[in-house]
Amino acid sequence: MKIPFIKNFIAGRELEYIKEAVDANHLQGDGRFALECNALLEKITGARCALIVSSCTSGLELAALLADIKPGDEVVVPSFTFVSTASAFALRGAKIKWCDVREDTLNMDEEFLKGVVSENTKVIAPVHYAGVVCDMASIMETARSCGALVVEDAAQGMMSYFGGRHAGSFGQMASLSFHGTKNVVCGEGGAILINDESFIDRAYILREKGTNRRQFINGQVDKYTWVDLGGSFVASEIAAAFLLGQLEHATEITNARLRICDEYRRQLEPLELAGKLRLGRVPENCKANGHIFYMLMNTPQDASKIISLMKDKGIGACQHYAPLHLSPMGVKLAGGNPVKLPVSESAAKRIVRLPVYPQMTDEEISYVVNAVKSF
Ligand SMILES: Cc1ncc(COP(=O)(O)O)c(C=O)c1O
Repeated sequence: MKIPFIKNFIAGRELEYIKEAVDANHLQGDGRFALECNALLEKITGARCALIVSSCTSGLELAALLADIKPGDEVVVPSFTFVSTASAFALRGAKIKWCDVREDTLNMDEEFLKGVVSENTKVIAPVHYAGVVCDMASIMETARSCGALVVEDAAQGMMSYFGGRHAGSFGQMASLSFHGTKNVVCGEGGAILINDESFIDRAYILREKGTNRRQFINGQVDKYTWVDLGGSFVASEIAAAFLLGQLEHATEITNARLRICDEYRRQLEPLELAGKLRLGRVPENCKANGHIFYMLMNTPQDASKIISLMKDKGIGACQHYAPLHLSPMGVKLAGGNPVKLPVSESAAKRIVRLPVYPQMTDEEISYVVNAVKSF
């Protein structure tokens, strides 16, 4: 690939920190790097408690356990997302209620949501697509009105803000991703953010296989034991060491990505004005993080053509997500009742994502833009 879809970016002391972790003879979880990542994440996001975990998926699964999801509880999830947003709750027996997304941001449609919730709604799980935070004022209000919890899928939301507040700081809980394809990475990793204090103590227990190991480490009990049903969610110190090196440069990484997205937008706007494609929107009260730059083509055929044209020119463009409500598992989870979600269905067929990585040069941006223009 001449211009791959993503490229690894070493921002600072990641490799040095990994060596330090090895030299310190502490590779399991909760070493000095993990504790520093947790503290820095709390400072950046404003969350009451941040705990790094092995992936965003495991953070969502931990949130589903903490929310005490029982078979038959309803959880509202956008269909236009990665499987984990739904599977984390479905694993606990939740009935998934699919929500459509907004045309302008492809985020959970807060008006559509009002028609999906009921007194049986246990959790609403908004996804901050492309690092643009959903309308959390409206979603939190809807959640209050039906007594539901909000678990934000902030996989793409590191360094994204709504009304000056960071993604993941609105709901009772949230999960971030540091997967290799995200902005701030450690290979495989994530963090659960907890804003409702009542979940914190149990989170420490459930992430450690349901044991009170933390109390033992803190000298509160003389041996640790099995006290609840949990899982193995803790992130390794190698991942934490790499992650700290990235988190220390989160602002520079974000600014570099935003510059690329701004440049794409500036150069592609004439095509939008000519009606050839539509670009994603960042609402005025949001500050995005440059995670994804996407175009919505006029037809699915246009999208397929442009992706194969880009491939021929050595550019890694791609599409996602196949709407979950149409997948075999998605239909089953909704109790076999097929729903119609027109925006999700249409956008998924027309979306084209362009390469974004912090070290992308002006020449590379122009090469991609010229390929789009030649379509
Ligand atoms: C919206 C969303 N949720 C969850 C995930 C899962 O993240 P992870 O790979 O860290 O489990 C992703 C990953 O792409 C995602 O985009």
